[in-house]
Amino acid sequence: MRVVIVGFGVVGQSFAKLLLSRSADLYNRHGIKPRIVACVDNSGSAIAPPGLDLKRLLEAKKTKGTVGGYEKGSTKFDSLQVIDKVDAEVMLECTPTNLNDGEPATSHITTAMRSHKHVICVNKGPLALAFPSLIELANYNGVMLRFSGTVGGGTPILEFAKRCLKGDRITSFQGILNGTTNYILSKMEQGRTYDSAMKDAKEKGYAEANPSLDVDGFDAAAKLVIMANWVMGMKVTMKDIQRTGIVNVTLSDVKNAAERGNAVKLLAVCDSRQLHVAPTEVAKTDPICVDGTLNAVTFSSEHSGQQTIIGRGAGGMETASAMLRDLIEIREATFS
Ligand SMILES: NC(=O)c1ccc[n+]([C@@H]2O[C@H](COP(=O)([O-])OP(=O)(O)OC[C@H]3O[C@@H](n4cnc5c(N)ncnc54)[C@H](OP(=O)(O)O)[C@@H]3O)[C@@H](O)[C@H]2O)c1
Repeated sequence: MRVVIVGFGVVGQSFAKLLLSRSADLYNRHGIKPRIVACVDNSGSAIAPPGLDLKRLLEAKKTKGTVGGYEKGSTKFDSLQVIDKVDAEVMLECTPTNLNDGEPATSHITTAMRSHKHVICVNKGPLALAFPSLIELANYNGVMLRFSGTVGGGTPILEFAKRCLKGDRITSFQGILNGTTNYILSKMEQGRTYDSAMKDAKEKGYAEANPSLDVDGFDAAAKLVIMANWVMGMKVTMKDIQRTGIVNVTLSDVKNAAERGNAVKLLAVCDSRQLHVAPTEVAKTDPICVDGTLNAVTFSSEHSGQQTIIGRGAGGMETASAMLRDLIEIREATFS
């Protein structure tokens, strides 16, 4: 399978490392031999139709700061030229999330689909803003769009709902979908103020330099959009979500909740009446009440009751493993 990687930061590089460590096993167990035929970052590109040498690609990124350093004197192509022109079956979209207009990822995805490439996307931006139309475009061009890494990192939340529960009808779900805010709220439960907990999250590398995406609930809302579309068959985008972040949660809110045997969690809720993200009191005995950076989602189904899936919600290698899962699924669906 020929693959183009667009964006070679934490996730893109983790994917390359994962392929290096799993190549024999991937062939033996799944009959697939992925070849990275092109890779693009913000400053350059590397192209090799027989397949890039991944060790050399990682070394070029490390020492020269760009994949463009892979081949001396090579011509520089931008991401859209590479996606459009290079022959490949799959494009991996791993550029930074932009929840304002989804770019550059939306253009990467639409260009890939129009040139008949399947897309694996870890970027929430395009899906949060235009999920229904991207699925339509994929169907129109006869390609698959997969995005396991956008929700739950390596924890297969979307697959659990879509596959394991497919014999039943999911009527609602609720979940903790953002590890950073869960970490901050967990620290507040231990007595730290919001500011001190936020400082701690930044020091540990859990919070972005601009933490608004997390603390204002945008990240959780984007994941809620993806789940509502994929799991519940809704046709919704970010503007359909009611969103309240955690910036106004005080230490006394958290203490009062604890006295009632509850914890305050940033909960994303989807049922027939509501689609919202908001700080909510959750009973400490509820399996969804996880601490630290963990994510958890409880699905309620018509006949099988409630099931909760818990796991780490982010991380380069975890997300890369979700992308590999998508790649194997595309292989099984299209090349058998
Ligand atoms: N990190 C995680 O744990 C995690 C988990 C789940 C999902 N995600 C999502 O995965 C995506 C990537 O995350 P990351 O942590 O790998 O980010 P990152 O380390 O910032 O890497 C982003 C990469 O995109 C490249 N890029 C930016 N604009 C580009 C353009 N126009 N054309 C081509 N490449 C471009 C950057 O190039 P330069 O290297 O030249 O700057 C960089 O290589 C994000 O959407 C993120 O939300 C991340």
